[in-house]
Amino acid sequence: MVQVHTIEISPPLINASCAWASDLAQLRELYDCPYTGAVTTRTATLNGFGEDDSNTVVFAASSTSSLNSYGYSPHPLASYLSWVHTLLTTPTASGSTPSKPIIISITAASSTVLGEMLDEIQELRVRLKQIHHSNGAAGVIDPSTLVAVELNTSCPNIKGTSPPAYNFPLLLPLLDVLASTFRSDSSLTIGLKLPPYLYSTRFQEVVRDLSMYSRGVPGSEGQDTANPFAFITSTNTLGSSLFFADQTTLPSSATSSDNAPYALPTQLGGLGGEALHPLALGNVFSFAKLLGAHSDPAMRRVVIFGVGGVTSSEAVRRMYGAGAKIVGCATMLGLMGVKVFRYLTDDASD
Ligand SMILES: Cc1cc2nc3c(=O)[nH]c(=O)nc-3n(C[C@H](O)[C@H](O)[C@H](O)COP(=O)(O)O)c2cc1C
Repeated sequence: MVQVHTIEISPPLINASCAWASDLAQLRELYDCPYTGAVTTRTATLNGFGEDDSNTVVFAASSTSSLNSYGYSPHPLASYLSWVHTLLTTPTASGSTPSKPIIISITAASSTVLGEMLDEIQELRVRLKQIHHSNGAAGVIDPSTLVAVELNTSCPNIKGTSPPAYNFPLLLPLLDVLASTFRSDSSLTIGLKLPPYLYSTRFQEVVRDLSMYSRGVPGSEGQDTANPFAFITSTNTLGSSLFFADQTTLPSSATSSDNAPYALPTQLGGLGGEALHPLALGNVFSFAKLLGAHSDPAMRRVVIFGVGGVTSSEAVRRMYGAGAKIVGCATMLGLMGVKVFRYLTDDASD
């Protein structure tokens, strides 16, 4: 069991936010799977993302890697809130009361919209708390404590927009909104989905900027601090990557002559799976070193979710070895479906 601020994740294996966590049926399957310790939704925007045929995914033929051109979920935040409400208030497939956290992945282009989205999430948590109080069953987990938020700062596929986490100062207005929500209600568990960074000073800048949000905990006489950011998920896909169609599992009939010879209609996309793994490990390792040695106790408590090329038990172990406390996957979920979590677990406990 890993404690991430107010949520408990057990086992420490989750799905990373992705296209296979888009709707209620997919989320239900992930939620009911005994091998996931939490479920992450696909990234929602306030009103839904205008998806079209150019938004898709392909898989490599000779390695367990993916390239995708998806933006965000076409479903608006309101749909996710209603699905999360359903999942947390109805028994699981095994008949038990829900006790697994759900991480709602969100993003917004402006701090005003992000503020509205956070208000809606907090309203959901209030409703869940009320249901819990009116049911009054002893020993049952308050479902409002099972909702966490992950801000996706790192999608590489949005036309004309760079992932904000590549220019961290541009992200600060969004982080300010998250911090202010946390200060009004410090029971909310908040994380950031980060992109793959390529050189050491970027990790230092991110950790320095996040540490600016730490505050002293009242009553601890300066001994302890709290930081709004309980976890970082490292990494998202690596943007501007290219597969030729003949490197993928696509049948040759599936690529239109407009796309040929490239695999994706957008040509470039975000790289995930095995090809990303060494870079993801390096990112997790770099953050773990900086956070572990930080002078601020709140920064030392930030939990790293290791994502990127988790395709086998060995990869799971490498993620832990690099410093992740929670491990997640997306590409393998796309390839194998929900049974991947049993595969990674069985394989990992060999
Ligand atoms: C098809 C697809 C869709 C994705 N959509 C999202 C998303 O909506 N939000 C997000 O934060 N990351 C998204 N990702 C990135 C994954 O969460 C993950 O960070 C990345 O794929 C690396 O993990 P992997 O090697 O296990 O695929 C997506 C990845 C894939 C393959």
